[in-house]
Amino acid sequence: MGADNHNNTFSDLVSQRYSCREYLPTSVDREVMAQVLETARLAPSACNRQPWRFVVVDEPELLAAVKRCYDRAWLESAPAVIVACGVHDEAWHRADGKDHTDVDLSIAIEHICLAATSMGLGTCWICNFEVAQLAEALNIPAGIEPIAIIPIGYPASSQVPEKKRKNMEEVVQWGRFQ
Ligand SMILES: Cc1cc2nc3c(=O)[nH]c(=O)nc-3n(C[C@H](O)[C@H](O)[C@H](O)COP(=O)(O)O)c2cc1C
Repeated sequence: MGADNHNNTFSDLVSQRYSCREYLPTSVDREVMAQVLETARLAPSACNRQPWRFVVVDEPELLAAVKRCYDRAWLESAPAVIVACGVHDEAWHRADGKDHTDVDLSIAIEHICLAATSMGLGTCWICNFEVAQLAEALNIPAGIEPIAIIPIGYPASSQVPEKKRKNMEEVVQWGRFQ
């Protein structure tokens, strides 16, 4: 199959995903949310341990409490968030001890972001939040770590910002490092 022959759908999806920081007030149907979450459930994980829990927050009082854990005005517009949590005891640890919780969660979270994009929804990774405050707000048990807050909602703008990325040459090594 030639290069011109490939299906562009996934590349398009990747290009359309961006960090959305302004949302319409329209709520996200829980069935739509469940479809998005299904793609996280199906994500691969090391040794298939699936060391994740997803907390969906769309009720006003609790949503406000979550938003207080990330003190940025832009988050105010998000009609819902998904808090992605890792369970370190369930995750695979390599022989050298490396804990793969974050690797597994990253895959599942990005499935959420891409699935949301495919359904016309916007998302944004948030990791710079107050961890202890969030754990308390959501009653997250000991041993479960909140890894990212993902706001989810319909974007206020239909413009996809231009991607700012390193060049291919800067990030790809064909063969050994020199
Ligand atoms: C692990 C991770 C953590 C991030 N944390 C934050 C965050 O706390 N706040 C924020 O506004 N954006 C956060 N971002 C979004 C990045 O700034 C964004 O992905 C990057 O600038 C590229 O822009 P794009 O997503 O629009 O392509 C995070 C992204 C990743 C992958």
